[in-house]
This record gives sequence, structure tokens and C-alpha cells, in this order.
Amino acid sequence: MISKWIILGAYLTVAFLICSEAPFAKMTNVVCESYNKSWVVFHYCRLKAYSRNKTSLHINMTVLWPTNNITLKMKILKKASGYKPFLFDYTFDACEFMRRRNQPVAKIIWNLIKDVSTVNHTCPYGYQALSDFHIIRIPLPWPTGDYLLLGDWLFYNKPQMGVKIYFNFVEDW
Ligand SMILES: *[C@@H]1O[C@H](CO)[C@@H](O)[C@H](O)[C@H]1NC(C)=O
Ligand SMILES: *[C@@H]1O[C@H](CO)[C@@H](O)[C@H](O)[C@H]1NC(C)=O
Ligand SMILES: *[C@@H]1O[C@H](CO)[C@@H](O)[C@H](O)[C@H]1NC(C)=O
Ligand SMILES: *[C@@H]1O[C@H](CO)[C@@H](O)[C@H](O)[C@H]1NC(C)=O
Ligand SMILES: *[C@@H]1O[C@H](CO)[C@@H](O)[C@H](O)[C@H]1NC(C)=O
Repeated sequence: MISKWIILGAYLTVAFLICSEAPFAKMTNVVCESYNKSWVVFHYCRLKAYSRNKTSLHINMTVLWPTNNITLKMKILKKASGYKPFLFDYTFDACEFMRRRNQPVAKIIWNLIKDVSTVNHTCPYGYQALSDFHIIRIPLPWPTGDYLLLGDWLFYNKPQMGVKIYFNFVEDW
């Protein structure tokens, strides 16, 4: 039974690479968590260091059942005696976003990964891959500091998975 769902299901591989351009961002840690292992399985979730200034993020995961109803909660926290909310904290319909590109902040992140991703259509998802992602520059004025990007995915309003990406940013202007 299970293997049938794996064959029907979605498969996603993500590899990020953040470059040592100035100003630069560097990922320092990543945590992936499945809240429901009968729906989402992470095979691989770690950073690889290329140099002092350059890390790449590799996430390999399987969505065992296709889903047509995905809500994504995204927020950024900035470290200042504990992590505090920074810039944005919002929730949107990920399937609708992939149809309409109607979320400005999500669109900024999307624009950074779209050229190296096969996640270029809306729900439901089949096999997906994203590799060798190079962020050259974040198109926003961004203060130096340590940050945490939190993503929580809900399928049919039930939390299924979360990804935390810790990064630091050095302003060089
Ligand atoms: C967990 O995933 C299964 C599908 O494999 C789904 O039927 C069930 O509702 C999910 N449970 C929760 C609490 O989201
Ligand atoms: C993803 O992980 C699975 C299970 O470990 C493995 O079989 C598969 O080859 C991996 N795929 C990629 C693209 O790394
Ligand atoms: C890393 O970035 C720092 C600060 O911009 C720079 O001085 C250093 O040369 C860079 N190191 C490498 C290996 O790119
Ligand atoms: C999505 O990307 C794949 C692989 O790059 C391509 O074959 C496919 O035509 C694209 N689909 C759309 C809707 O752009
Ligand atoms: C997604 O599922 C939830 C819970 O079943 C439902 O309330 C919501 O209307 C659905 N959203 C869409 C866009 O179908």
C-alpha cells in the first residue's frame, strides 16, 4: 500500500547555494521536521560548506500523497537577545500563489529560485527538483545580523512540515 502512494506522490529535491558576493548572506544551520511522517518524509536536510563564506542547502524529501491544498506560513526573525519578528510574518495559499504569483514577498523568494527549479507549476506536485541555487543579492535593504527564516506547510489546514533556515547577512555598503 505504502509503495503505491510513494509512486503516486510528489518528490522534491532542493539544493541552495549562497555565494560570497558582497553584500552576502550565509546559511549557518538548517532544521527540517515532518509533523506527519505518513505524509511527508525528509531523507536529507543539511548544509554543505564550500568555503568560509559559502554554504549550500540540500533538502531531499518525499510527499507521499499528492495534495491540492497547501498553506504556507512564512516568517523571518532577527536575533537581538533572542529571535524577534522581523520584516514579515504571513500566511498564504501556496497553490494559488503558484497559479497567480500574487504574494509580493513570496515572489521575491520565488524569483531567486525559479530559474533553477522545476517547481514551476501549481498543485498537485509530481517529481520536483531544484539544484545549484545561487543567491547573488537580496533585493532589499537588509541590516547586518543573524536571521532565522521559518516555513511551516499546512495541507488542508493541518501542519505537515516545517523548515528552519538560519543565516547571517553582512551589509557591505
Ligand atoms: C497525516 O497524513 C495522512 C496521509 O498520509 C492524513 O490522512 C492525515 O490526516 C494526516 N494527519 C494529520 C494530523 O495531519
Ligand atoms: C533522495 O533521497 C532518497 C532516499 O534517501 C534517495 O533514494 C534519492 O536518490 C535522493 N535523491 C536525490 C536527488 O538526492
Ligand atoms: C569572505 O568574506 C569576507 C568579508 O567580505 C572577505 O574578507 C573574505 O575574503 C571572504 N573569504 C572568502 C574565502 O571568500
Ligand atoms: C517546468 O520545468 C520543466 C523542466 O525545466 C519543463 O520541462 C516544463 O515545461 C516547465 N513547465 C512549465 C509549465 O513551465
Ligand atoms: C483547504 O482545506 C481547508 C480544510 O479542509 C479548507 O477549509 C480550505 O477551504 C481549503 N482551501 C482551498 C483553497 O481549497
